[in-house]
Amino acid sequence: MSVSVILLLLCIFFIVFQLRPKRPKNFPPGPAPLPILGNILHLSLRNPLKDLERLKKSYGNVYSLFFGPNPVVFIHGVKAMKEAMVTRATDFAGRPQDLFINDLAKRKGVVMIDHGPNWREHRRFALMTMRNFGMGKRSMEDRIHDEIEYTMKTLEKSIGKTLSPQMMFHHASSNIINQVLYGTRFEYDDTFMTETIRCFTEIAKITNGPWAMLYDTFPFIRKLPLPFRKGFENVETLRFLLLGLLNEHKKTRVPGEPQDLVECYLDEMDKRPDDPLFSDEQLNRFAADLHFAGTDTTSNTLLTGFLYLMNYPHIQERCQQEIDKVLEGKDRACFDDRHNMPYMQAVIHEVQRVSNTVPLSVFHCTTKDTQLAGYSIPKGTTIIQNLTSVHNEEGQWKYPHEFNPENFLNDQGEFVKPDAFMPFSAGPRMCLGEGLARMELFLIMVTLLRKFDFIWPEDAGKPDFTPVYGITLSPRPYRMKVQLRSSA
Ligand code: HEM
Repeated sequence: MSVSVILLLLCIFFIVFQLRPKRPKNFPPGPAPLPILGNILHLSLRNPLKDLERLKKSYGNVYSLFFGPNPVVFIHGVKAMKEAMVTRATDFAGRPQDLFINDLAKRKGVVMIDHGPNWREHRRFALMTMRNFGMGKRSMEDRIHDEIEYTMKTLEKSIGKTLSPQMMFHHASSNIINQVLYGTRFEYDDTFMTETIRCFTEIAKITNGPWAMLYDTFPFIRKLPLPFRKGFENVETLRFLLLGLLNEHKKTRVPGEPQDLVECYLDEMDKRPDDPLFSDEQLNRFAADLHFAGTDTTSNTLLTGFLYLMNYPHIQERCQQEIDKVLEGKDRACFDDRHNMPYMQAVIHEVQRVSNTVPLSVFHCTTKDTQLAGYSIPKGTTIIQNLTSVHNEEGQWKYPHEFNPENFLNDQGEFVKPDAFMPFSAGPRMCLGEGLARMELFLIMVTLLRKFDFIWPEDAGKPDFTPVYGITLSPRPYRMKVQLRSSA
């Protein structure tokens, strides 16, 4: 009897041992994985950033973990990041294709589609359209300023009182992207506005939560009626909402005279009637991707910025002095004014560094067998960039662990951008909304600081700068006190 028990245990041990995923030859090191689960127990799903830092201390800047049976390589620090994203750019420019998020997007759009002609064409189209902005008479700056007017009205109503800025900044960045995509803004209580915000928020929460992790790790549960189905329902609601808007554009547009990015896309479809890459369905997902990618990112950066400015009033005051000097006699700021505002530029960049808004970037994937830091990485391996590690890296910053605009100023007080500044990532997949985001951050912060003082309320206690973890990091909800500046 005892011999058969021992034999049975040995068999189980042997099977379990065989089921353990194995690292390929010369693959980046990492902790031993468990059968089936891989290394998911090594990471806190609520906030893995501390675990990643700990793993880096044990295994170096390039290491690996298993998500279920699938190996994933993590990259820390500017040196390895540049080697992967810039030196070996194309090798690392893919996106994984077997994740929950790929099934949500049905392999369309731009953010999650793999390296190849569809991604290249859509990326080029988006960059060209947004750069030249051949969309009617109103420039990108006009569209941003239009929305700032509404933000100012919200603030004016709260003068002398406190307000919660979360929705205010969310609405502003959402409406700016709406202006770019659809040539229109929406009232804050419009169904399109409330429903898109609701759907995007729920999708982000599910995608970043344990159910998406289980979906990615155990393909056999994908058809089951589990909570991740809610994600698919939200995607359908969004698709339906966008369909209405796109059909409206089709009826009202004048071909050849596009007024927004959607109409540019419809013109592009006219120019290439037989090209399957440019289609109605693709337009729907493409618009959803730009909308999603351009909303929480910008609004969470603004929220972090004002949280710091209220708690570092001397920095806020120095920005205001520079703004007053440069804008004297002008009605409004334009993006070119940044060249005369080194301090403001340094503050905005420092805000982006500490906000660290997209901490793990968007997952990449290798497009061929390649090398990194002397390790061999096979084609199809998921790659996770730890941008947090770069923004806090010792040796790259004068003050890596404090909020200090001096990180972006040289001894002459001129603005300088260190190599390790990469909130938009680097290489061929880097954020394609960078130009728009930088313009928004500059125009919004400068315009609001010119007119208002932002004060940390006396009864708010000590500020908590620890962010809430998610696809994007956001500050904990806070209130701000607003006062009209005496010089405004
Ligand atoms: C402060 C604001 C923003 C930050 C910090 C940010 C950051 C990022 C990061 C880290 C990535 C991943 C890059 C990579 O995979 O290597 C990304 C991708 C992307 N972002 Fe942004 N982003 C911001 C604003 C925007 C805006 C306003 C738009 C809309 C126009 C946008 C559209 C995109 C798109 C479409 C991609 C995917 C690019 C591709 O796969 O080729 N982002 N962004």
